[in-house]
Amino acid sequence: MKFAKEEYKEIDKLAKQDPWIILIADDEAEVHETTVRILNDSSFDGRPLQFIHAYSGFETKNLLEQNKEIAVIILDVVMESDDSGLQLISFIREELQNSLTQIIIRTGQPGHAPEKGVITKYNINNYLDKLELTAQKLFSAVITAVRSFNLASSLKSEIDQRIAAEKELKKYQQGLEKLVEKRTEELHEAVKSAEKANRAKSEFLSNMSHEFRTPMTGILSFATFGIEKYLDTDREKLLRYFTKIRDSGQRLLAMVNDLLDLAKLEAGKVVYEFYDTKVSSIVNMIISELSAFAKEKGVNIIFDSLPDEAKISIDSSKIAQVVINLMSNAIKFSESGQDILVKLEDDEKYMILTVKDRGCGVPEDELDGIFDKYIQSSKTKSTTIGTGLGLPITKNIINDHKGKIWAENNSDGPGSLFVVKLPKKMTAFF
Ligand SMILES: Nc1ncnc2c1ncn2[C@@H]1O[C@H](COP(=O)(O)OP(=O)(O)O)[C@@H](O)[C@H]1O
Ligand SMILES: [Mg+2]
Repeated sequence: MKFAKEEYKEIDKLAKQDPWIILIADDEAEVHETTVRILNDSSFDGRPLQFIHAYSGFETKNLLEQNKEIAVIILDVVMESDDSGLQLISFIREELQNSLTQIIIRTGQPGHAPEKGVITKYNINNYLDKLELTAQKLFSAVITAVRSFNLASSLKSEIDQRIAAEKELKKYQQGLEKLVEKRTEELHEAVKSAEKANRAKSEFLSNMSHEFRTPMTGILSFATFGIEKYLDTDREKLLRYFTKIRDSGQRLLAMVNDLLDLAKLEAGKVVYEFYDTKVSSIVNMIISELSAFAKEKGVNIIFDSLPDEAKISIDSSKIAQVVINLMSNAIKFSESGQDILVKLEDDEKYMILTVKDRGCGVPEDELDGIFDKYIQSSKTKSTTIGTGLGLPITKNIINDHKGKIWAENNSDGPGSLFVVKLPKKMTAFF
């Protein structure tokens, strides 16, 4: 007989399938032999039968414990010397929680047929009387039991799969719920920060209009005085008017410059020119530039420089802007008679510039926020004029130098400390 390729595969598959395991539990060796002889060449669903043998209740228990896949047990109810059949049945169904193995009771003892209640309680699948037993009856009982075991097992595995699938689904749903929760939270956060930015922008706009209006009013009123009184006003007075007009104009220009600078920095449109420079040369220049402002405020600037200072690659006009912003803040937020300490240090990797003042300081939870656009700390917001653009500009410039900047409050008294770290070798950081 010749088989097609596909059929060979099918036969192969069947041959590899596990046999149905039949446990024969009986104390008489002869019963084992007869049973095997009757059933030996049988198969069900292409799978052969395989027999395992127990001659006592003890052995039966052992085999049941070791083999989870027993399809059928043919059980002699009264086996000599140990457990009675009934105890074994309750061991299978209750202790082992095995509801799949089919139980066929076979006994030659009259009056040992299980009662109806026992049959239902333990799900006994068949009962054979040894005295009336024929080969056909045994064969039909075992094959029916194997079929039932097969049905019950596939039903159970289907149920197990469904339970597992449901569990997966639940897990997936929970995951989905968590994801939705997380996204909603993120959305809330985004809305909150958008609202915060919006509030800061409104505050900035109202501040800005105030900032613009004051110098503008000054310019216009001094120009009007000049026009009205140019014939009978002495030169000294006219010079004062012009000086006021120039100062106010400079203030306006500085503000417009800040706005444009930040917009350019944020758009990445700033072109940097890096040259090897000593940071102290910039600090000295700014100290002398701000000396009039410091004198007016009555504060004293001390510069603690670094001996044998190395040059580092920086854009000096941008770093000058950083130093101006930090030092003018320090002067602005200090009281008359206080010192401002500017210090230059270095370590292996960085040049470190610190600006320390004895002024009002910054609330701890706002130390990061003051580097955001338009933000002024809650301590100074109502009392000082400003745009809240100096620190964000500063931070952008330092970031473009691959450096770091942050603010702290002094640990040795009032006031705040601004720290700038500039890398000595920028290339190493790219
Ligand atoms: N040295 C300082 N001491 C106390 N507060 C400071 C200091 N420097 C900055 N701040 C706080 O940070 C805010 C933002 O500073 P900045 O961006 O320079 O804007 P502006 O100076 O226009 O207010 C200031 O309004 C102030 O609240
Ligand atoms: Mg400022």
